[in-house]
Amino acid sequence: MPGITAPSNYSQEPPRHPALLINSKEPFNAEPHRSALISSYVTPVDFFYKRNHGPIPIVDDIDRYSFSIAGLIENPKELYMKDIWKLPKYTVTATLQCAGNRRTAMSKTRKVKGVGWDISAIGNAVWGGAKLADVLELIGIPKSSQITPSGGKHVEFVSIDKCKEENGGPYKASIPMSQATNPEADVLLAYEMNGEPLNRDHGYPLRVIVPGVIGARSVKWLDSINILAEECQGFFMQRDYKMFPPSVNWDNINWSTRKPQMDFPVQSAICSLEDVNVVKPGKVTIKGYAVSGGGRGIERVDVSIDGGKTWVEAFRFQKAGIPYVSDDISSDKWAWVLFEAEADIPESAEIVAKAVDAAANVQPENVEVIWNLRGILNTSWHRVHVRVGHSSL
Ligand code: MTE
Repeated sequence: MPGITAPSNYSQEPPRHPALLINSKEPFNAEPHRSALISSYVTPVDFFYKRNHGPIPIVDDIDRYSFSIAGLIENPKELYMKDIWKLPKYTVTATLQCAGNRRTAMSKTRKVKGVGWDISAIGNAVWGGAKLADVLELIGIPKSSQITPSGGKHVEFVSIDKCKEENGGPYKASIPMSQATNPEADVLLAYEMNGEPLNRDHGYPLRVIVPGVIGARSVKWLDSINILAEECQGFFMQRDYKMFPPSVNWDNINWSTRKPQMDFPVQSAICSLEDVNVVKPGKVTIKGYAVSGGGRGIERVDVSIDGGKTWVEAFRFQKAGIPYVSDDISSDKWAWVLFEAEADIPESAEIVAKAVDAAANVQPENVEVIWNLRGILNTSWHRVHVRVGHSSL
């Protein structure tokens, strides 16, 4: 594509914050320390996890950068940044979470395949851009469409990066037409993150943001949009990011039996404590994040200091000090809530957090029941251990 190129090696990667914990260097996959996630509601770009499958593309001329919209439509079109900037700009506060968040812990039960992530493959940002529904309207697809006259039912996003899994081809994914054309779904072609132009790691100059859905569908470095009759047949839709039951292993897997994962389930994690802690006698503050997919609010976060025998409800907020109300008009529906509770810790304690969403979905108690060979969607109760000693971490 004019204006943007995709390197085939890692010699031109962008600078990154040295505090990031690197899970894989090439491609670059890194997360912040968990404590960074609770220091602000909106995650600073430097501390936002980075999930890549190839070298980071380079924009050499933003004026020449364009992407095509083609497939099952009457009039295929080439759009430039100036066309996107002309459309109404929306800002959507949305949490992006990699389906592999908390994979390392799942691997402890039984080994899984994939990049190891602790609990920080997640972040909350203010995304600025045009609504995909408005962009599709430009090419003649009306709002709230299920299908185009020529049978288009899915909207595919294709990038330009070179991914090993695609044999050197680009990353791609699709979402249903009904979601893409629904203005309420807030799907964006985003050019800003936290009020600044996207940086290279996060998809400069233009990426898709699909709120409430696993991060894998929010394609970065957009190169083309295709209107398709079937969902995208790319690797990351058909042979990855699918949720299998614990009985499926690498010998009996049949990828076609499962749908590509879209919404993420209810999740929470404690970020103010390490997996194992030594604390001074007295009160311990338990802070973390909770989020659910599909725009479902967080109804409750329960915290236990006795491994789940008894529970107290944590204070939840999006704006500091102001209680969060699930599904209220003043709440950011696609964004996480932060939670906080205080407790007196006996000698030795297992501290647990579990969240409940607006549909009363609750995190499963144990990782075993949701174990899957790719190690996705570990949403089991988050547990950390505390011992009372004379030095604190
Ligand atoms: N888009 C492209 N082009 N290439 C990628 O490797 N990774 C996906 C998604 N979009 C990816 C991509 C995955 S798995 C996730 S979780 C998010 O981007 C991560 O976005 P971030 O790096 O901005 O946090």
